Amino acid sequence: MTRTAIYPGSFDPMTMGHLNIVKRSLEVFDQVIVSVLRHPEKQAMFTVEERVAMMREILAGEARVEIESFDGLLVDYVRRRGSHTVIRGLRAVQDFEYEFQMTMMNRRLAPDIDTVFMMTDEEYFYIASRTVKEVAALGGDISGLVPEVVAREMRTKC
Ligand code: PNS
Repeated sequence: MTRTAIYPGSFDPMTMGHLNIVKRSLEVFDQVIVSVLRHPEKQAMFTVEERVAMMREILAGEARVEIESFDGLLVDYVRRRGSHTVIRGLRAVQDFEYEFQMTMMNRRLAPDIDTVFMMTDEEYFYIASRTVKEVAALGGDISGLVPEVVAREMRTKC
């Protein structure tokens, strides 16, 4: 049996924290599908296509990782992909409330789907896409916070 987990998110853009969660997930699951939400209302720095393309470049060497986008309810998508597991990263206490609400809503919709929380290595605890974008927009150094592919693309946007 292949254990497939879905790692959903906005990934605008992928940070070193996200990448760390993918690598850690590969220790636990046979296959990890990183799935970018298509959300037209969200003010994004990168289009969904750009985010998917960057992550495919970053994770090109990982045969057990797939990158794609999804829309609609997460639980429907997870079922369509034949999985029962959602992966989410937890950084600090402030993430908990939001994650708790989402997990319980998803559980109500699909009791057979579980969410597994993972923590990054400690050097990535404080990294968030939002703050990285702010630092980049204001001319700060983002090297080490995001993969080099992302840093390169962010420089073209800022
Ligand atoms: O990286 P993010 O923005 O915290 O990821 C949030 C995401 C994509 C996991 C969440 O918004 C989601 O699953 N959206 C799909 C819509 C859905 O299923 N909503 C019901 C659960 S509250």
